[in-house]
Amino acid sequence: MPTQGEERWVEDGNNMERLLEEKGYETDLQYAEDVVENQLAQIENMITRGADILIIASIDGEALSGILEQAEILDIPVISYDRLIMNSEHVSYYATFDNYGVGELQGEYIVDALGLEDGEGPFNIELFGGSPDDNNAYFFWDGAMDVLTPYIDNGQLVVQSNQTDFNQAAILRFDGEVAQTRMDNILTAHYSNENLDAILSPYDGISLGAISSLQSQGYGTENRPLPIITGQDAFVATARSIENGEQTQTIFKDTRLLAERAANMTESLIEGKEPEVNDTESYDNNAKVVPSYLIDPVSVDKDNLEEELIESGYIDRDAIE
Ligand code: GAL
Repeated sequence: MPTQGEERWVEDGNNMERLLEEKGYETDLQYAEDVVENQLAQIENMITRGADILIIASIDGEALSGILEQAEILDIPVISYDRLIMNSEHVSYYATFDNYGVGELQGEYIVDALGLEDGEGPFNIELFGGSPDDNNAYFFWDGAMDVLTPYIDNGQLVVQSNQTDFNQAAILRFDGEVAQTRMDNILTAHYSNENLDAILSPYDGISLGAISSLQSQGYGTENRPLPIITGQDAFVATARSIENGEQTQTIFKDTRLLAERAANMTESLIEGKEPEVNDTESYDNNAKVVPSYLIDPVSVDKDNLEEELIESGYIDRDAIE
């Protein structure tokens, strides 16, 4: 797993470990604290110690093709977990969510919240992208921008900073502090006489960083409400933020289902069966199209938070309060 610094990967890891152990397998769960070299060393070590299957959520999807050659020589299947490992033929299967769909849900949320289909506007929007070394980030961006671009083109949405390319909007490693600084800079340079109405954010860590910046510049009061702001991963802090009327929306990706999917893929591979997939077209890693299983993401705001996050047992009510 990439890092223990993000709640979801801790849950992903724990869930997978539990499920795999219930199936009678031995597991070795390692976190690389977002350092690519750590992850390479961990994988190498696992191969040396005789791993039968590798399940990897990469930090930098472009950095693992060399090490996967070693896995290939030893016939160790590799499951790409949540993030696609690029440039290697030796990625056996991919378990993930519908990443394009994540972006679409974020874009559609903004369209609905602002009433763009009814011709409302113009509104000011700023755009954030995910980490450029994570293939998912391009899918999130494309899904959202395919929804939002027509409204930017017709003037209902205005990006005052003019930063409408992924490369201008991307936040390396999805770092919330970097997002906060970018938001500070944009507000200072472009919003002294303008009000920001919406923010496309691909990830809760980025959203929370942007919200801190906005609050420090006077947003979040009755006269100057926070913009509509999207997110992803359903952080506990985000659930609290949504209930407090700060962040508007998040995408809930039930990592329990993803862990289950990866554990079932593992079992199939060990038993010599074909793992179940539902997509054999979308995920080309530049070496092959990787057979994938995509799980549906769910859009959550204050109206369905209780049902989706609390009643489903994903987050404890106590943790939020
Ligand atoms: C993405 C993942 C998101 C989020 C992000 C930051 O690859 O799909 O759910 O966790 O990384 O870690």
